[in-house]
Amino acid sequence: MKILITGASSGLGAEFARQYANDENELILLARREDKLYSLRHELFEKVKSIEIIVTDLREFIPLQTKIAHLEDLDVIILNAGVSLGHSGEMASIEEFKRLYDVNVLANHAILEVLLPKLQKRKRGTIVFISSLASLFSMPSSKVYSSSKRALNAYAEGLRYKYKKDNIKVLNILPGFIRSELTDKNEFSMPFFLETEVGVRRMIQAIKKEKEFYAFPKRFYYTIRFLNLLPSFIRHQIVEKFSFK
Ligand SMILES: NC(=O)c1ccc[n+]([C@@H]2O[C@H](COP(=O)([O-])OP(=O)(O)OC[C@H]3O[C@@H](n4cnc5c(N)ncnc54)[C@H](OP(=O)(O)O)[C@@H]3O)[C@@H](O)[C@H]2O)c1
Repeated sequence: MKILITGASSGLGAEFARQYANDENELILLARREDKLYSLRHELFEKVKSIEIIVTDLREFIPLQTKIAHLEDLDVIILNAGVSLGHSGEMASIEEFKRLYDVNVLANHAILEVLLPKLQKRKRGTIVFISSLASLFSMPSSKVYSSSKRALNAYAEGLRYKYKKDNIKVLNILPGFIRSELTDKNEFSMPFFLETEVGVRRMIQAIKKEKEFYAFPKRFYYTIRFLNLLPSFIRHQIVEKFSFK
């Protein structure tokens, strides 16, 4: 398989690369940190059929589109790159808000604007969005991040309906807390926490089974669903008590 992974320089993206590294797979790894990408390439070089590095900033849409324009015959596109503003609970500045949306939402569209027509032409391909369980429940301390991931859910859903006839699978994965640079910054105790290797293994299984919606760990997902069924004044009390600060 030929697989593009965004945000491959650390965390879940780097682990996707490690777990997909075998002699049948061609990997294309995209992120900004060149040193991290090249050291991953060095680590995986002998295991994979081929490995290409694309160093680019996802917020710069035109250079991004230029740098991916040559990609052909992709089987899987894993739109994994994402940023959070932490859990300070402070009001984000408009600049921070925009930067987050550029990476978590708009860059994905910039990529698909270039690559989707190619999948459409081939009548095959899988697009995987890495959303978050945070998209289903917005805490006061992570409202910008949650809203970006909820936007991603809606975008993924629309794409899925639109491109089904072209045999393009659109999968949406909503992980809970998994060890990465993003969660290393969290100073609170993270419920249902998973190690990177375990979390990514589960996501790869879900991709293999072509699950259109995969939210995990299940106990965390069902807890959130239950919370969402409660009357809003009770939810409010729970949020006040457990807000991650
Ligand atoms: N870890 C969790 O618990 C968890 C839970 C739910 C969802 N997620 C989602 O999983 C995805 C991966 O996150 P992670 O936990 O693995 O975090 P991470 O270790 O911080 O990785 C984020 C990746 O995104 C890349 N990235 C960020 N800004 C970029 C930019 N402007 N241009 C290009 N690449 C950029 C980073 O690369 P460079 O810095 O090198 O550019 C890095 O490779 C994110 O979408 C996150 O929201 C994570």
